[in-house]
Formats: sequence, C-alpha cells, structure tokens
Amino acid sequence: MILPSDMSTLQTLLQILRTHAGDWISGEDLSHELGVTRSAVWKHVSRLRRDGYAITSAPRKGYRLTQTTPLLLPEEIQSGLRTRHFGNRKIVYLETTDSTNTRARELANRGIPEGTLVVAEEQTAGRGRKGRVWHSPEKGGIYLSLILRPKISPLEAPKITLLAGIAAAESILSLADIDVHIKWPNDILIGKRKVAGVLTEIASDLDEVSHVVTGLGINANVREFPAELQDVATSLALEIGRPVDRAALVRAFLERYEHYYTIFLQGRTNTILERWKALSRTLGSRIAVEISGKRITGMARDIERDGSLILETPDGKTHRVFSGDLETV
Ligand code: BTN
Repeated sequence: MILPSDMSTLQTLLQILRTHAGDWISGEDLSHELGVTRSAVWKHVSRLRRDGYAITSAPRKGYRLTQTTPLLLPEEIQSGLRTRHFGNRKIVYLETTDSTNTRARELANRGIPEGTLVVAEEQTAGRGRKGRVWHSPEKGGIYLSLILRPKISPLEAPKITLLAGIAAAESILSLADIDVHIKWPNDILIGKRKVAGVLTEIASDLDEVSHVVTGLGINANVREFPAELQDVATSLALEIGRPVDRAALVRAFLERYEHYYTIFLQGRTNTILERWKALSRTLGSRIAVEISGKRITGMARDIERDGSLILETPDGKTHRVFSGDLETV
C-alpha cells in the first residue's frame, strides 16, 4: 500500500484499518507497514479508541475496525475529501468553543491560509445573522467556519453568501432526496422549517477584501429544540428519520463550495444566480420585509448580480433589499 508521506502514523494506521474494515490485520503487519514497534501500534490503537473508534483486538488475529467514531474529527472529514484547498490544508478541531466564526476570524487575522476549516462539536455562543443566537448543542449539530482570501473588491463579497447557501442546500440533497430549498438570503429550509444557516463575515479595507469567514450551522442529528424554536426549526435526522453521516455532509459541503467558489472567481456570476434561483422558492412569492424600519409587502421578483433581492410593491415600484428577514405572506 502506498500512503502519502506527510501523513502522521496515527492517520496512516487509521487509513490501513479502514481499508481492511471488517477484516483482521495482524499487529506484525501493522508494525511493518507503519515502521514502528508493536507496542507503538498498541499505543496508537488505544489513542484511536479514546477518539471513539471501535477497534477489536484478539490474540493471533490482530486488530479490526468495527465502527468509526461519532466525532467530527479532521481525519473523518478528510478521508475521501475531493477538494484542492477547502478543508484539505488545516482543520482546527475543537470539542467546545464560543463560536467557530470567532476562532476562524482570529486565525485569519494571524495570516492562516485560505481553505483552513474550524469545526466544533459544541458552541457556547453560536452566532446567527443580525446578532441572534445559533442553537449549538453538543452532539449532533454541525458548526464550522471556513477561511477564504479572495482577491476581490468589498463590493463583490456579498455574493459569496449565495455560494455558501447553494453549497449547503446541495450537500443536504446529496444525502437524501428531500424538500430542501433556500430562503433569501441564505436560510436553508425543509418545508417551512429552518435546518441550516450561513453567517458570512468579511474583513476588508477600501479596495480589497482581506478575508472572508463563512460560518455554517446545520441541525444534522439534533433531536430537540428549545420551546421558542420548536415551530420554526427542524433537523435532518428528524426529517429523514435516521441519523446522518456528519463527516460525509461536511465533505459534500466543502466540495460543492469549492466548486462554486472557483466559478465565482472566474466571474461566471450567471451560473451561480441560475443555480441559486433553481434552489430557492423566494422568487415569485408574496413576502414582507423591513426596509429602513418600515415593513413593506410585495412580490419577490428577482435576484440582482450583487445578491440583492428585487421586491415589487402593489404600486408597481421596485425596491432593492440588501439584507433582512423575509416573511412569506
Ligand atoms: C443564521 O441563519 O442566522 C446563520 C447561522 C450561522 C451559524 C453558524 S454555526 C458555525 C458558525 N459559528 C457561529 O457562531 N455561527 C456560524
């Protein structure tokens, strides 16, 4: 077996156990393939077990991986990940943190490269748009932030929000054929309930963006919501009726996001807008939104190239909405 030379012994061991999944592999073969002693193999196996991998061992048979970890560990995300940069360079894994967007912003300010991913199992101060709280319980949710460094003007940056919404919706569709759609600007809904949200935070000077942090929260295997969210939120596990593979979902998101980001950098905005429109139910529906403190009702007509929404009021006038919360009326 040929393995990449930059992999750690632990990652290599995991990869070997994965390729033999269900079958025994002897301690001697492992020690030979890894170039370490048999007692070192044992120590690494113990470490993997502490990380939640179920590995059986038996005299004269060796080791066998029977179940992968329930944690969203970097090794799990990167195993089989088909991206060039997104999630493929560095993944910062945290059991708990206040907000992955805050951690990612700190890393970005220290010059960490594009494609770096921050993932947490739990957030104690998860943030949503407009200063809201993002319900981020331990076990079951996906809380991640990705650092981007596009060489673009700050005026172009809001479009990135659309890309992340498309990638999130498509990644969910890759797991199950369900009624997922995007509500402008980038709420991901199943039916009328929200299952995921994107928080894009941009740092720039007058001419150029220095970094973008895309934060994504998905209610993947969350089973319970606080009373105030019960009517408006849902999770993939509740909708599909079984727990979903969180690592596979993160991989699908990273792959699709990198794909649309490349299209965006090539200036192919129309391709992105077409895809966004196909996944959205906002256009053509009657909505209400607050503009400068005033509630306005009308028809959502179109999405501009900059990502703003065109709203037509009953008097025939059109209004551009740059941010806000839509209500379908
Ligand atoms: C929204 O719909 O209002 C956006 C929600 C974004 C939540 C994610 S979870 C990971 C990242 N860290 C945060 O604090 N927020 C985003």
